[in-house]
Amino acid sequence: MTTKPTAAPTRFLTGITTTGTPHLGNYVGSIRPSVAASTGVGAESFYFLADYHALIKCDEPARIQRSTLEIAASWLAAGLDPDRVTFYRQSDVPEIPELTWLLTCVTAKGVLNRAHAYKASVDKNTAAGSDPDADVSAGLFMYPVLMGADILMFKAHQVPVGRDQIQHIEMARDMAQRFNHLYGEHFVLPQALIEESVALLPGTDGRKMSKSYDNTIPLFSPRDQLKKLINGIVTDSRAPGESKEAEGSALFQIYQAFASEDETAALRRAYVDGIAWGEAKQLLFERIDREVAPMRERYQSLISNPAKIEAILQTGAEKARQLATPFMRELRHAVGLRGLGVTAATSIGKAAKVALPSFKQYREADGKFHFKLVDVQGRMLLQSRGFDSPKDAAQAIALLQTQGAAALPSVEAKLATLEDVGSEEIHTALQALVASRA
Ligand code: TRP
Repeated sequence: MTTKPTAAPTRFLTGITTTGTPHLGNYVGSIRPSVAASTGVGAESFYFLADYHALIKCDEPARIQRSTLEIAASWLAAGLDPDRVTFYRQSDVPEIPELTWLLTCVTAKGVLNRAHAYKASVDKNTAAGSDPDADVSAGLFMYPVLMGADILMFKAHQVPVGRDQIQHIEMARDMAQRFNHLYGEHFVLPQALIEESVALLPGTDGRKMSKSYDNTIPLFSPRDQLKKLINGIVTDSRAPGESKEAEGSALFQIYQAFASEDETAALRRAYVDGIAWGEAKQLLFERIDREVAPMRERYQSLISNPAKIEAILQTGAEKARQLATPFMRELRHAVGLRGLGVTAATSIGKAAKVALPSFKQYREADGKFHFKLVDVQGRMLLQSRGFDSPKDAAQAIALLQTQGAAALPSVEAKLATLEDVGSEEIHTALQALVASRA
């Protein structure tokens, strides 16, 4: 196998906390746009069930398990293709809590004091005259660090989240920067991706659809229940025949999130013409059901086969760990959690703290000159074919050292890689070498 240097695709990663049952708001705001994005070319998507995060909010084991099943089934029913993306459960990747500890040690406690979720609890307690930390678990306090590990582990570039999560992504960037400064360039700095066009869906009472307001419509309610819930959406008291306002109408906003522009325009006219609320609700019901019905069928068949979902998640975890395991090995080494037989870099000064991959030249029995690239643990990443002279080999090395992965195409024919080494690791190693010379 030879290396195929290609531009690194943009990596998207997002997590879904496993505490509830997916509702229409989750579908419109997260599931539908994510599934659509995951089918784009040049993207590499990671979706995971954040069940460690769920433990922070929920101490009911059966609910965590049920929610994990329902959320996984919902994403798959909505068209997420586990062969195209990496779809896994957070707790199946033990490297994530391991990384959490390394990040904990580079995160200032004062920064966590300012995290919105923690601060909100403290403010509430203070206002009530209680101890500021009453009922605050250390898990809630550490929430942003676990989330940082989720993101940094997979070198995500873009993290699609709601506005309330922006601060967490900024914290993850800070952790990455601090770690990179101390131990060398290991982490990619992530960015929050906020979908401006995605509407916040109102719930049945007109406030934002949210489990905490108890105003949700479950995505896969059976038809008759869906109908009942839609009939419960609040409206004003205008009678049939009376003109109605589309602005501020929860019913209208929900319709808009599912309908085409033409359909939306038609309903807007019907409002003006005095459509009866009962009739408008019937339209909304039919429109949602049209989109949801085929998914509902897939959902039912998935949910009645948990073993199949489990198998999909296990495959996803394996895929995720193919990245996480070697990366964690690299990070452990970087911070000094090393086998005692491994020699540390010997020179003095800041740069010496960063162990680097290296090139080794040698001559084979056939008289040809070879070189290999070995990582800090001495593992071979790349091996050259034979060169006729040591000078030719040295030239190829110099190119790789100065241009990094960009030089791979010009020396490609001279290289062989080892089967179990990913091209990403090779790119990372070369990048570290180039950076060290800059
Ligand atoms: N905190 C996110 C939420 O409540 C869920 C989450 C956990 C997450 N880890 C993540 C989102 C990593 C994006 C990336 O919505």
